[in-house]
Amino acid sequence: PAPGWSIDADVIVVGSGVAGLTTALRCEAEGLRTVVVTKARLDDGSTRWAQGGIAAALGDGDTPEQHLDDTLVAGAGLCDEEAVRILVTEGPDAVRRLIETGAHFDESEEGRLELTREGGHHRRRIAHAGGDATGAEISRALVEAVRARGLRTIENALVLDLLTDADGRTAGVTLHVMGEGQHDGVGAVLAPAVVLATGGMGQVFSATTNPSVSTGDGVALALRAGAEVSDLEFVQFHPTVLFLGADAEGQQPLVSEAVRGEGAHLVDADGVRFMVGQHELAELAPRDIVAKGIMRRMQEQDAEQMFLDARHFGADMWEHRFPTILAACRAHGIDPVHEPIPVAPAAHYASGGVRTDSQGRTTVPGLYACGEVACTGVHGANRLASNSLLEGLVYAERIAADIAARRAENGLHARVPVPVEHPEKPAHPLLAPEARFAIQRTMTQGAGVLRSAESLAGTADALQRLHADARDALDENGKTAEPGVDTWEATNLLCVARVLVAAALLREETRGCHWREDHAERDDTTWRRHIVVRLNPDRT
Ligand code: SIN
Repeated sequence: PAPGWSIDADVIVVGSGVAGLTTALRCEAEGLRTVVVTKARLDDGSTRWAQGGIAAALGDGDTPEQHLDDTLVAGAGLCDEEAVRILVTEGPDAVRRLIETGAHFDESEEGRLELTREGGHHRRRIAHAGGDATGAEISRALVEAVRARGLRTIENALVLDLLTDADGRTAGVTLHVMGEGQHDGVGAVLAPAVVLATGGMGQVFSATTNPSVSTGDGVALALRAGAEVSDLEFVQFHPTVLFLGADAEGQQPLVSEAVRGEGAHLVDADGVRFMVGQHELAELAPRDIVAKGIMRRMQEQDAEQMFLDARHFGADMWEHRFPTILAACRAHGIDPVHEPIPVAPAAHYASGGVRTDSQGRTTVPGLYACGEVACTGVHGANRLASNSLLEGLVYAERIAADIAARRAENGLHARVPVPVEHPEKPAHPLLAPEARFAIQRTMTQGAGVLRSAESLAGTADALQRLHADARDALDENGKTAEPGVDTWEATNLLCVARVLVAAALLREETRGCHWREDHAERDDTTWRRHIVVRLNPDRT
């Protein structure tokens, strides 16, 4: 649809998790006129759900160099070392600035930050808040700061597409506001800098730790805008998600790695600790190794779940250290104080995303990406636990600094957007909302933890049929589904799922969180490289 109204700014930040709100606050501090647009409410994204914490070399004896080593090992040969170096060296101060912004982390009686361990970390370096409610505290602090500083925010607004000028430079975005105010319906926010901070795409699978809003909107927008997207095949499955049945759908409760960091054991139905002997760190091996260990033992025992045993923590420690997880388990009739917790892997984090440089710039001038939506190169083939909140903080600051530097050099000039075209046959026709479930099921069947050429080809066909059905509907009535958040979300999910599956088919090896049953080995000769995708806007 064509925009019915428009407002203007220097910077539009799309998304309101740690990456988006930190970018917005830093831009505002630079004196940039900043608008935050978010699909639901300010605290509705993934950040709020983060449990374990935020990793940074803040402890005695720890150094950025050791954090770098652990990150590179987890990333399985595909991290961009320079991007990681930036993350780990700028990380500790970025966490301190988050604390100055108002976030309260757990401290010892002497007033020192309490640090825990998670998979792949050789040291205690994860700061946490409220025991296991780190994301909720970060979200609270950032939302309060945004409100206190009077930043302009537009909630319940789905950003649809990027607007560009005649030279292909960013000019703003179109968006659909679902509300009852001055700016309802489809409109535009015009600005020469747009920062995508829209989070992940976990909803592309049936069971995920991600909230329902994580539908790959930013990656889909970037693909439609002709930006480069990289590493989409590397979807991380969190090893320990509360198992609520094989057909559980939607957001599932996470059981943080920090539970293992504090000494919980992974056991099979016979009570055997099956990770011991598989890796020097046993249950605290990098996440992909633990997820594979669980899947293998499930196959061997023809089981749908494994168990996390932390009965030895006792009631006091459970209540004090992991209150959120304790409550979630009890809400589902499981008492971790007295019984092992049933767990299984579920989709958790997109290690890939919109390709950026070290300032968060994408390949479209004026378009930036930050946080889970971005592929800065810090995660490689498998993100190290608790590096994601940190990435959001560090790269948000770099983006704000880059936009401020642009303004200092040349001024930040508004761009005149070229009119939005409405071809009779759009390359990405709107899907009916129900298509979301068909996408999730076929992705879970064929492109989940275990993949093969056969399973991926089956999923690619099913996705292609959904696309063809939408095109056929256009042929028959000139129309597919009524525009609305559900239809756009389903359309975005299909767009990112097709690219993800194509990349997973192409990568004929097993590396990091991409596990091909038909190519079980890592192949450094052919595949120590990235799959970068840029869509031709005229092609489907
Ligand atoms: C967790 O608490 O296990 C999640 C940490 C992360 O995904 O980085």
